[in-house]
Amino acid sequence: MQKALARLLHTPGQPTEPQTPTTASTMRILIFGASGRTGQIVQRIAAAAGHHTLTPAHADCPLENTHQLSNYVLTSNADLIINCAAISNIETCAADPLQAHLINALAPATMALACRHTGARFIHLSTDYVLDGRRPGIRNESAKCRPINCYAETKREGEYQTLEANPAAIIARVSWVCGNPARPSFIESTLTRALAGQPLAAVADKYSLPTAAADIARAALHLATTEHSGVIHLTSSGAPLSWWHCATLALQAAVQQGALAEAPAIQQQQLDSVPFFREPRPRHTAMDNTLLTTTLGIPMPTAEQTIHAAVAAALATIRNAAS
Ligand SMILES: NC(=O)c1ccc[n+]([C@@H]2O[C@H](COP(=O)([O-])OP(=O)(O)OC[C@H]3O[C@@H](n4cnc5c(N)ncnc54)[C@H](OP(=O)(O)O)[C@@H]3O)[C@@H](O)[C@H]2O)c1
Repeated sequence: MQKALARLLHTPGQPTEPQTPTTASTMRILIFGASGRTGQIVQRIAAAAGHHTLTPAHADCPLENTHQLSNYVLTSNADLIINCAAISNIETCAADPLQAHLINALAPATMALACRHTGARFIHLSTDYVLDGRRPGIRNESAKCRPINCYAETKREGEYQTLEANPAAIIARVSWVCGNPARPSFIESTLTRALAGQPLAAVADKYSLPTAAADIARAALHLATTEHSGVIHLTSSGAPLSWWHCATLALQAAVQQGALAEAPAIQQQQLDSVPFFREPRPRHTAMDNTLLTTTLGIPMPTAEQTIHAAVAAALATIRNAAS
């Protein structure tokens, strides 16, 4: 069935490279969005772990082309597909809701359905922004969802449609991805501005937890070997932090690592006063990772350790570029 379907859908331009044999412990992994902040690191860590990675560029497999996408998955012979692709900019989603729906909802559902046919494991990345962010606290996987912007609506729809298409799929919700100096998050940007002596400001009334791209990669590879299916919260451990608190921890880490003599002050901003945030953001979306860490035994660092490592990686990149 799987091979017949693959033959039926095969058209020129699909992956035709010789297929590297994999052993029981090495996997053939198809990564969508491998040029992005998370995908770059997922590819690097999967390859370093000895897995064979397939990383179609946007132009090789535009995700809005459903036929080409399902064909790509069906003919990839992958054991595992990790979807790091998305339209992740909130204002971009609001400006083009149809495109956001195609990439954030329809594309993962298409991948999930194709994986159901091939038997490959499917891990789709989602976001804490789908959660109801009205009350302070930390939320587990059964918490209520209430998307309040187009990005979150399409990501929530993507979760729902993915599991409808393939109940064995894994939806890994991540938050505040950091740790890729080539694609800086607010943690790396704050560090860069502080090193340049520029004024600093960060939002102090919005709370979640940072997630290192490397930890997403390691946890995804581990999750693929488990029987888990459905939603899982994949973020660092600890109590909710504001962006301001994370930025402050980043500068303290830079002092500890010898890059700054002292941590400069960071002005506290209100979420509603950030001029380039035209769309609403949820305030309280920190995720409880107990299912991942305690039930499945997949370790995650604390938020402080995550920020410390992100600063160390950013400083190493800056020092390498300067030498
Ligand atoms: N970044 C965060 O802080 C954060 C927080 C919570 C959840 N997440 C989730 O984590 C995942 C990864 O996010 P990220 O920040 O790493 O994303 P990102 O840096 O914005 O990268 C997105 C990737 O998707 C690809 N892509 C976008 N549109 C495409 C299309 N039409 N066809 C093919 N490829 C397309 C991009 O390729 P091109 O650049 O070539 O277009 C890029 O490789 C997403 O599911 C996101 O919702 C991220």
